[in-house]
Amino acid sequence: MGKMRLHKFLAQMGVDSRRKCEKLITDGRVKVNGIIVTKLGSEVDVDKDRIEVDEQVVSKNIPKIYVILNKPKGFLCTHHDPFGRPTIYDLLKKIRYKLNYAGRLDLESEGLVFLTNDGELINHISHPKKEINKVYIVKVKGQVSDNNLKQLKKGIPITPFFTTNPCQVILLKKYRNNSLLKIIISEGKKRQIRKMFAYLGFQILELKRTEIGILKIDDLKPGQYRFLKEKEVKELNNFLENKQDKKGNIVLSNKETGLIITIDGPAAAGKSTIARELALKLGFNYINTGDLYRYVTYRAMAEKLDVNKAQEMNNLSRKIVNKYINETSYHDFVSHLQSITEKIHSPEINEKVSFVARHPSVRKNLIPLQRILIQDGSVVVEGRDIGTVVAPYADLKFFLTADQYTRAMRRFKELRDKGYDISFQEIEKEISSRDHIDSRRKAAPLVKSEDAILINTSNKNISQVIEEMLKIIKKFYGKNKWK
Ligand code: DC
Repeated sequence: MGKMRLHKFLAQMGVDSRRKCEKLITDGRVKVNGIIVTKLGSEVDVDKDRIEVDEQVVSKNIPKIYVILNKPKGFLCTHHDPFGRPTIYDLLKKIRYKLNYAGRLDLESEGLVFLTNDGELINHISHPKKEINKVYIVKVKGQVSDNNLKQLKKGIPITPFFTTNPCQVILLKKYRNNSLLKIIISEGKKRQIRKMFAYLGFQILELKRTEIGILKIDDLKPGQYRFLKEKEVKELNNFLENKQDKKGNIVLSNKETGLIITIDGPAAAGKSTIARELALKLGFNYINTGDLYRYVTYRAMAEKLDVNKAQEMNNLSRKIVNKYINETSYHDFVSHLQSITEKIHSPEINEKVSFVARHPSVRKNLIPLQRILIQDGSVVVEGRDIGTVVAPYADLKFFLTADQYTRAMRRFKELRDKGYDISFQEIEKEISSRDHIDSRRKAAPLVKSEDAILINTSNKNISQVIEEMLKIIKKFYGKNKWK
């Protein structure tokens, strides 16, 4: 192998994707011969240099290792937690090599996690196309009815755009206050099981994964792990081979890669129309975060609150978010926003919304909601601070802009078509005032994220901009993976 780029080598060794390996380097988590290397593009001699990630050796000579772990509650599936909470790697300290896991379990869940430094196998086992069964034992509060079981089996709309596939559900035990179920799914959307039960109004008390494909947790105690035997690895490979498509290829479709695309920019730069169309073309979900700020404004006006009063806006936005998280499903909430779209895009709301969005507490309250909507990936999200604050980890970021005259003219035509009697001058004033407040406010002002791609839409029509963006997305995706 000799000399090669550091990030390329790490990716080849299965540490992570090339992009994420670059981030590991810039985050200062990679050492070469004991010295932290943060410069991208550095070359290493993979035969001679000692390369470490998070103090674990990565070498082309190390053996392939396969581990199954019984993750206890309270441990995170991550290589690195910025808040210093315990991670599964704290349980695997004795293993000196850099292992990756397939299929995350959230903090409160326990059970089977599979880890290996075999990059190829990790890709195979975690790929959605493989449709590998995962078995979960779930204890929920309350009595699960026959109708609930039917709904779970049939599929649950866990986001406005995604309904789970039919799955197997078995009611194992009915207690007076709780129910114990076994559920077998072959998808792996983030927090899928939790969302499925939340949709039906059940609180999950315990969630344990017991099987992934042919791997079983058996009698491993929480916190314990064991290495797979050679024979088991062979069986696992055989099992996975059979799950490949006819040519033996792993085929990625755009729906399954979980790409997060952000579009930020000033008012009337064309974000909404472009984001919606782009999402449609990619088969992605479309999320308009401006509508959340607009909804808070709409409610504030309906309740005759003062949009300049931070405390009132804090209470209102908290109330809305709590209701949404605890009582309402995604589906109902987003459908509700869609049903009042005319109302929340009225000139009155246009005029007031920036005052509401300016309050740090409102922004803070709305962020978790936005992240929940984004978390499953395969989304185009638009707003003002998505690439900078809400999803700084996004895969691809765009910043759309246009000169003020063009933007005012677009908004003027749009409102005129809707029948509003409003002058061009008034709109120009409103846009200029919103630009001012949105980009000068202290909390998450409108700025272009450093890594965002700037597109000026002034002299371009919608399809030209979309063409341009699609080209960039395809290039990013890589020809081979694009379908
Ligand atoms: O994109 P829009 O015009 O519908 O957004 C309405 C307002 O909401 C905008 O003036 C600023 C605010 N907003 C925000 O501050 N942060 C976001 N992520 C989205 C919108």
